[in-house]
Amino acid sequence: MAAMALTWQKVAPGVWRGRAGQDGQPQLLAAAGVAPRSEGLAQLGEAECPLERERILAEAQAERCLLSVPLEPDEVLYGLGLNFKALEVQQSVRHLQVDHFGGQDNGRTHAPVPFYVSSRGYGVFVNAARYLSVYAGGVHRREAHPPVLDRATDTGWKAVQPGQVVEIAVPGTGVELLLFAGPSLLQAVRRFNLFCGGGCLPPRWGLGFWHRVPLAFTAEQTEHLAAEFAARDYPLDVIGLEPGWHTTCYPSTFAWHHGRFPDPAAFIARLLDRGIRVNLWEHPYVAPDCALARELADGCGTHTGSWGGWVPDLSLPAVRETILRQHEQEHRRHGVAGYKLDECDGFDPWLWPDHAQFPSGLSGEELRQIYGVLFQRLTTELYQRHNQRTYGLVRASNAGAVSFPYVLYSDCYSHRDFITALCSSSFCGVLWTPEARAARTAEEWVRRIQTTCLSPLAMVNAWADGTMPWSFPEVADAVRDAMVLRQRLLPYLYSAFAQYQADGTPPFRAMVLEEGWTTTATATGALDSERNPYALPELMAARDQYMMGPCLLVAPLFEGETERRVLLPPGAWYDFRSGALVGCGPGQVTVRADLATIPILVRDGGIVPLQAARRQSPAAGERVDLEIRHYGQADGSTVLYDDDGLSLDCERGESCRLRLTATRSPAGTLTGQVDAVSGRAPFTYAALTWRFMSPPA
Ligand code: GAL
Repeated sequence: MAAMALTWQKVAPGVWRGRAGQDGQPQLLAAAGVAPRSEGLAQLGEAECPLERERILAEAQAERCLLSVPLEPDEVLYGLGLNFKALEVQQSVRHLQVDHFGGQDNGRTHAPVPFYVSSRGYGVFVNAARYLSVYAGGVHRREAHPPVLDRATDTGWKAVQPGQVVEIAVPGTGVELLLFAGPSLLQAVRRFNLFCGGGCLPPRWGLGFWHRVPLAFTAEQTEHLAAEFAARDYPLDVIGLEPGWHTTCYPSTFAWHHGRFPDPAAFIARLLDRGIRVNLWEHPYVAPDCALARELADGCGTHTGSWGGWVPDLSLPAVRETILRQHEQEHRRHGVAGYKLDECDGFDPWLWPDHAQFPSGLSGEELRQIYGVLFQRLTTELYQRHNQRTYGLVRASNAGAVSFPYVLYSDCYSHRDFITALCSSSFCGVLWTPEARAARTAEEWVRRIQTTCLSPLAMVNAWADGTMPWSFPEVADAVRDAMVLRQRLLPYLYSAFAQYQADGTPPFRAMVLEEGWTTTATATGALDSERNPYALPELMAARDQYMMGPCLLVAPLFEGETERRVLLPPGAWYDFRSGALVGCGPGQVTVRADLATIPILVRDGGIVPLQAARRQSPAAGERVDLEIRHYGQADGSTVLYDDDGLSLDCERGESCRLRLTATRSPAGTLTGQVDAVSGRAPFTYAALTWRFMSPPA
């Protein structure tokens, strides 16, 4: 074992890069091929990192580099990828590997992003496309003389004694890590997101409601379904086609099945006339006897996936070009709006083995860590080339994909785990949808729909059993209400995504990223009811509620519940529907709600722009009036974002930002004001009417 010298360089405000050993190891950020968002990073400004760089050590071992990053006893760590069971990761061991989530937070997950943030206000990222093992604080070096306690007599004995170091084992002969300063947790996350290219901005239709049809559905059945949504007056912006739109699948030909879809272009055009976009399911595996396989033959790996399909090496530009050409010819030019990129995660028996070899020289392991990222990059580029935005689904991701317009999903289906995943996604630059697929009871169905409607992608995925939003008549109206609320919130959500893009703030966030949230109690176990309002460790976690956009706190109810505890960050919080005061934080309140209602609380001074109830997102050129709601007693201010909703012209300044400000006069009356911040006049918004929701105190 030999010490390695880490060479540090400042690479952006508040961001330092450390390198040791040989260059040329496969890297996550290189695979994504995105540049840091310099403007956002500059605005975030300089900050010192509380972690001393000299105390970070690297050692060379036979086949790996070992990094040691100091850890204080009271530090709480979050991140290390998309987790489903817990948010805090200190004292856990994670073997970070792209995989389908198998029921345990052990590092094998859909997005095993090697990035963590600390309650002390910094972030650490290892830029390696390899399987990494992170011992997050439970490891002890002999030379550090860890305390030795007697279980029978020492009251301080613990099953896992907190360690003083995070050790990260990185296969290979060189390593690159990046340090992100805070000073807050949120600022460390924002710096990471901006360094990876900034958040994605979906097209406006992407934030509407999605429905995925069953396997082997035909054009006729799909159009019938679209008509039924209209007849029943349920919102619908996107229809997703599942396997069966292709001639064969799995593996896939990526070509239309002309029996089921005699004229794909005309089919898509008819749906577009109804204001509905088409999204296509696909996966990496190319059927060996199809036209695309003949073109790709030299660009595929030594092994197939479990369905006999060839695996294109997406790291090769020539392979990417071939697929881009085919997708352009067969899909995009006919109007296909995007993709669901399936099966690029695991489980092991479905994928190519780790020892598979690919023409680029990458191993199966290396390509597995980045396949989802490369797939997202490829399909994003398909649309970029035509000045179009896309939005879709993906089952594997990793660092570097922050700016790609994709949302993760899974075959697992615990409603509670889905909400924890929504929280944990905010620590690692990915988006997650708690999609609704099926339910045992009407109550479960409406509760699931309510949460998917308050997530990055609101969707029913009926691929297996054909469940429709109205399948449970007892809650059919309540389900429609949740979907309509989603549509009403669109201007608010769209602005939250624009902020994600510009300054890295995740549009859906864990509570610990809120200012003033106390994070120090669980690490020490020394609870202090005077200093720490959330006296129980499980209260601290707050993994069943989350923030949506700047000021909304969503507290989902689960099947069997009519009330729940909500943890409040500092300040007064108001009911979204009535404007009444719910409670003041820091602390907790109990909220009750009927079956038709998901509790949503609004921060004091919160401003929420809403459009009128409608079935679809506004079409290009359409104008809608907005109701601008203000909640609580405090003055408030927010930015309302608008652009053409479809193209990338917004990245060249073709956008509009309006500042909405509510101010209370000395006499106590609230007034609302709208000021242009930047860009041209609104594209979509016509009259803006203020509504002050809370009666004066
Ligand atoms: C699964 C995917 C499901 C559905 C299904 C179709 O892998 O997670 O959402 O698309 O494939 O075969």
